[in-house]
Amino acid sequence: MPLKVAFHTLGCKVNYFESEALKGKFRREGFEIVDFSEEADAYVINTCTVTNMAAGKSRQMIRRAKRRNPDAVIAVVGCYPQVEPEKVASLPEVDLALGTDNRLRLPDLIKRKIYGEDVTSGIDPYGKKASFERMPWVPEQGRTRAFLKIQDGCNQYCSYCIIPFARGPLRSLSPEKGLAYLHEIKDHGYKEVVLTGIHLGLYGVDLDPPANLSSFLQKAVLVPGIERIRLSSIEPSDFDDQLLTVLKENQKICRHLHIPLQSGDDLILKRMGRPYDTAFFAGLLEKLHHSLPDLAVSTDIIVGFPGEEEEHFQRSYNFVQEFAFSRLHVFKYSPRRGTRAAEMKNQVPNRVKEERSRKMIALGEQLSQNYQEKFVGRVLPVLLETVVDKPGKENQVSEEGIVHCLEGLTTNYLHVRLPGPLHWRGSIQNAYLEKNCRGYLQGIKPTIQLS
Ligand code: 5AD
Repeated sequence: MPLKVAFHTLGCKVNYFESEALKGKFRREGFEIVDFSEEADAYVINTCTVTNMAAGKSRQMIRRAKRRNPDAVIAVVGCYPQVEPEKVASLPEVDLALGTDNRLRLPDLIKRKIYGEDVTSGIDPYGKKASFERMPWVPEQGRTRAFLKIQDGCNQYCSYCIIPFARGPLRSLSPEKGLAYLHEIKDHGYKEVVLTGIHLGLYGVDLDPPANLSSFLQKAVLVPGIERIRLSSIEPSDFDDQLLTVLKENQKICRHLHIPLQSGDDLILKRMGRPYDTAFFAGLLEKLHHSLPDLAVSTDIIVGFPGEEEEHFQRSYNFVQEFAFSRLHVFKYSPRRGTRAAEMKNQVPNRVKEERSRKMIALGEQLSQNYQEKFVGRVLPVLLETVVDKPGKENQVSEEGIVHCLEGLTTNYLHVRLPGPLHWRGSIQNAYLEKNCRGYLQGIKPTIQLS
């Protein structure tokens, strides 16, 4: 009987990539991966600690795993134990804790633990230098988009942010290895790859010879078979002319950019330690929208940063409204121990943060609807990813076989549903976008095929 291991992953796309890589390693070591709701010999919780709430959810999942099987080995990995090793080690449910480095030894540690050996793992804080932990890309079952981490760490130290402590200094995968993974991804039939990193815009600056994101993208678009390259998140200050040109000249790079603004008020941006002001951000958006028609720009907004008065919040709100983001990720400011902002005076009371968060989320929903609405009546290519048939509802049959309800994404991150045969999954199909159904656009096969 193979040993069973179950995973739960919290947080960002980098975490999801790393969990998949770890699962691949477990499989190679003879483990069977089972669902988190099943009884397993070991549970791995890949944590997040960007806010207090994320750390709380991580603890909740640790307790849940222990309840599923009180005899299982509970392993906690990632950002939360990296930042608070003592706290995590003191949780009564935790048997093993590893940080954000050197995690591929986890299957071995878990096996030894299961067989009763007394293993200690140990978490070292990051120094100035760290090497990129190369985690092999592994195909994910049932997915049509591949995630690939090419960069890790951050040196920016914004005043609110714990991530540089959790992830260590900037480091990158070499372009040669990155391209080799892209070829592997293509060989597995994936049409889209999502490039991820912690500070992706500074990809390559640590390498010798130095590389950069633009030159990597220029090579990546030449990999045949990969029809879309999506970028996970790019800092406003990392768009230079070269990157703008590469984006403009390469349709394969998705027309969706996630550019974290954090606040639309200059004083707050300054106190956050962000290296730009609202005028710079506005100029960048204008340039981007001008050269990339239909572009979707989503962003992160923090509300209730220390010293954020009503007028600052209002300016932030107005800025977000004016620049019509396609989607907002709203965060209530959460003081993280060891960061500068946690020590600042004028912390905002929780109920005020709640109130501002509600308002900002409502604005975000409105903006998403507005953005989506603009595409009703258009024909756009959709990469079909999942089958979302309504349970209990009989599917129709056409000349091409049973008609399913498929869902996927356009290059500018619109969710589209399209009736079609099962073999369309994983392929890109044109859809006439007939109707805005709030969370998605309903599409039909266009009667005139566009080239
Ligand atoms: N409180 C609230 N939100 C935060 N983020 C980072 N640190 C904090 C914090 N202390 C948000 C930022 C960032 C996203 C990943 O998490 O908006 O872009």
